[in-house]
Amino acid sequence: MHLNNFVLQNNIETPAYIYDLPNLREILIKAKSAADRYGYHIHYAIKANNNNRILDTVQSFGFGADCVSGREIELAISSGFSNDEIFFAGVGKTDEEIVLALNSHILAFNVESVHELQVIGEWAKILNKNARIALRINPDVDAQTHHYITTGLQENKFGIFSHEISTALEIIRTNEHLKFVGLHFHVGSQITDLTVFKNLCLKVNEWNRWFSERGFIPEILNLGGGLGVDYNQPDSVPGKNFEEFFGIFHRFLEPLSNQKIHFELGRSLVAQCGSLLSRVLYIKNGLSKNFAILDAGMTELIRPALYQASHTIQNLNNSSGETHKYDIVGPICESSDCFGKDIFLQKLSRGNIIAVRTAGAYGEVMSSQYNLRKPLSIYFIE
Ligand code: LLP
Repeated sequence: MHLNNFVLQNNIETPAYIYDLPNLREILIKAKSAADRYGYHIHYAIKANNNNRILDTVQSFGFGADCVSGREIELAISSGFSNDEIFFAGVGKTDEEIVLALNSHILAFNVESVHELQVIGEWAKILNKNARIALRINPDVDAQTHHYITTGLQENKFGIFSHEISTALEIIRTNEHLKFVGLHFHVGSQITDLTVFKNLCLKVNEWNRWFSERGFIPEILNLGGGLGVDYNQPDSVPGKNFEEFFGIFHRFLEPLSNQKIHFELGRSLVAQCGSLLSRVLYIKNGLSKNFAILDAGMTELIRPALYQASHTIQNLNNSSGETHKYDIVGPICESSDCFGKDIFLQKLSRGNIIAVRTAGAYGEVMSSQYNLRKPLSIYFIE
């Protein structure tokens, strides 16, 4: 059922997130078939959206999981993801989380520093477990995206820097509980210039050879996530860019024989299926601007305030006739609480339902209770 029909036929409580599950399934089918073509494995980056129904749906397609906390590992396992399909990433894994991951026999720790590697090694020894290690290499590739979501440059905190790699290998050599299984890379998020991934491949090829020549043969190459979505085209054909994305890796990556290629995709899988729904509370006509004040704000979707992200905004009650210019703002006491400036929409009236589209990734999960906001309502188009 189309978003408009669903919203207009149901008594929606706002603010709310609504997830279009047929759209999600369509995207998952496209992603899976594009990856399967080259024998690639997709892990879903749970941080993008950990809603139960989303997890159940993604899991039913046989994807693995990419987790960044102990609680995400527990949630992945209870949602049916296989333990041996779980990556555990993050620069700040706590002792408790390391122990949980060791006891859960996950596919690999994506290790981000020499110090972390030592601590994982100590715990593996104490618990007499094998810790499967994928070293996260900081490849110094510019993701050409917002600087807050760029991760693969030397100035970023992520990954092991090249000058520390020999030390990391020495630690692995001298601790029999540390099993080197592969390499991990992730250069950033919302990447729309696909040559970034070509550049990544070239760096990965160098590192792949470098490790192999030293007797550390990576059985796993994990290329991370980062594939961007088009926030201006919320109704574009779902999942149309996966062929091109995986095609680039197929063209430029030079894997050794028997190497398994993994990806950690978040946004590109779940962004399109979600929308934030909100009601217009007030129209305020200023001298130079008209403001539409909504009952949702940065507490429900922080991306515009935090990354100057622009999401398509629609009035679901009125989509014909003359348009007017509005600043679409939320109720929070912060000037950055604004979903869009100078947005042209058909005349807005109190009570109109506004959809902020392509909000399925990093939307609900990044919502907060700042201003003691009431919990969000959640709806599904089945
Ligand atoms: N792997 C690693 C190691 C990551 O750090 C991330 C995302 C992913 C995979 C998934 O990336 P994706 O396919 O979703 O781009 N809150 C920001 C995005 C933060 C991304 C953090 N890392 C936003 O709303 O744009």
